[in-house]
Amino acid sequence: MIRLLIAVVMGVFLWIENPVNAYAEGISGEVVQAIESIENIDLMRSELAKSLENATEPPTMETFKEVCRPVGMRLKEVGAENGWQVKQIAQKYRNPAHAPQTLHETMAIAKFEQNPDLIGFWEQENLKGEPGIHYYRRINVSKSCLACHGVKNTRPEFIAEKYPQDLAFDFKEGDLRGVYSVFIPELKKALENKTP
Ligand code: HEC
Repeated sequence: MIRLLIAVVMGVFLWIENPVNAYAEGISGEVVQAIESIENIDLMRSELAKSLENATEPPTMETFKEVCRPVGMRLKEVGAENGWQVKQIAQKYRNPAHAPQTLHETMAIAKFEQNPDLIGFWEQENLKGEPGIHYYRRINVSKSCLACHGVKNTRPEFIAEKYPQDLAFDFKEGDLRGVYSVFIPELKKALENKTP
């Protein structure tokens, strides 16, 4: 009985001391941070798209370009700032760099397709042999996106010119447009946590 008690006390002690738990806390903090960063960027896109929709002046080339490109740039910055791999993925993509690259990514898109109420999820994943947490967040089409992702021949001219392989049109309001993808590597963070 005493031995059991000692074992339990030791177990709790070891559990508290266990660096894996400290690491798990670190990573969940990072997931929260990733969620927040993505929400802010998504909001930025909605506002940019809405401002275009509500504009009284007819849109120029430049205003038309300034919706999804800044989003891509901001995602890259957030990735570099945090040591994450951050991007967008889509089955019907405009920029070929946004095609899904792994089976996990393809499956994440399918999961959002099948579950229209699913907003986001994260899972443990190995990316090119590197363990980490992968956070995925859905991107839906709203009315203000249709100016550039709606009926094919109503797309602004620069899109057809710049993206000859474009697949990102003929969407309807409420469709799944794509997915934000944030990979938070484990190894690097675990090593960082060890340094005082
Ligand atoms: C002014 C035109 C325009 C509007 C409006 C617009 N987009 Fe885009 N979108 C683009 C362009 C151009 C790209 C390709 C950017 C690049 O090269 O990375 C793109 C790319 C994307 C991508 C990345 C995947 C891909 O296909 O390459 C997503 C996701 C996306 N748009 C979602 C949206 C959503 C959601 C809205 C509405 C809130 C929206 N877009 C409104 C022009 C637009």
